[in-house]
Amino acid sequence: MSDIFAQAQQTLATLATESPATPEALETFRIHYLGSKGVVKALMEEMRNVPNERKREYGQLMNSLKQQAEEKYQTLKSGFEAQADNAAGLALDLTAPGEPLPVGSRHPVAVTLNRIVEIFTRMGFSVADGPEIEDDWHNFTAMNTPEDHPARDMQDTFYVVDAPGMLLRTHTSPVQARVMQHRKPPIRIIAPGRVYRNETISTRSHAQFHQVEGLYIDEGVSFADLKQTLLYFAQEMFGAPKIRLRPSFFPFTEPSAEMDIWLGMDTEKNYRLTKGTGWLEILGCGMVDPQVLENCGIDSKKYSGFAFGMGIERQALRLYEIGDIRLLFENDVRFLRQFSAAM
Ligand code: DAH
Repeated sequence: MSDIFAQAQQTLATLATESPATPEALETFRIHYLGSKGVVKALMEEMRNVPNERKREYGQLMNSLKQQAEEKYQTLKSGFEAQADNAAGLALDLTAPGEPLPVGSRHPVAVTLNRIVEIFTRMGFSVADGPEIEDDWHNFTAMNTPEDHPARDMQDTFYVVDAPGMLLRTHTSPVQARVMQHRKPPIRIIAPGRVYRNETISTRSHAQFHQVEGLYIDEGVSFADLKQTLLYFAQEMFGAPKIRLRPSFFPFTEPSAEMDIWLGMDTEKNYRLTKGTGWLEILGCGMVDPQVLENCGIDSKKYSGFAFGMGIERQALRLYEIGDIRLLFENDVRFLRQFSAAM
């Protein structure tokens, strides 16, 4: 009986040394080991002659023999097939479907921003840019908010400790000053970007958000131009039928106004959103203060213009009916994924 064990061990050892070098040799290998009259089968049939107490041991031996023979066969077979494909120029199958790539989605703030930019570029505005780490002069002084002016209190920010006079811009308005300093009218720009405020008024307030600034300077620009431009924007952006301009104050515009859009009160939602007035506040605007033009080297006798500025998060909430502004900053993918269809 130990004969049959020795024979099986021997077969296992021989198998390990086998390496058929051609497809034909591999077929011979297969028939020899795995064929219906092959070695493995013959050895398996000896099982009935193995005494009961050693059957288990023999069974394990047979399993590993069979497994190793099959593995060797499959590995070599795939190798020969790949060689054949290579030879036939089929290794790279250009018709095979590609690996799927996970598709991301734009952030609702980016989508909203793109829409605003798109509407104004249609009216001939171009996009201008400015630094987020701004100097005091551009952020405040040029915008007619000198040091110790109380309006500065409305926009507390973060100052750069190592660079006196440098701060994180509190609004996109300094881009107005930068553009006016370097370009001659006519000027028609919008300036989207990040802005910062140091405020902890509520858990909802956030130290960083986005704004879009608008500036139009030319000869003879009037309040009527401001009104018509903003009406077109309100119609295109929100489908609002009409706007209203309420008197307001900003240091850099005179006169200044807040623009509301008409939502109506037909639905419970609009009633609540507009606090029962039908009107929703969207942005601040006005005629550029002549002092601002002069600060930036533009002749205020010859030129006039209007400006406006709005927060983007607020528009995004309105556009997508998002209930809580914090969702826009948390960037939970379960929230963001819902906007994957948006452009
Ligand atoms: N910069 C103002 C703010 O952050 C918004 C603003 C109001 C911008 C009126 C303007 C404007 O250009 O004319 O609150």
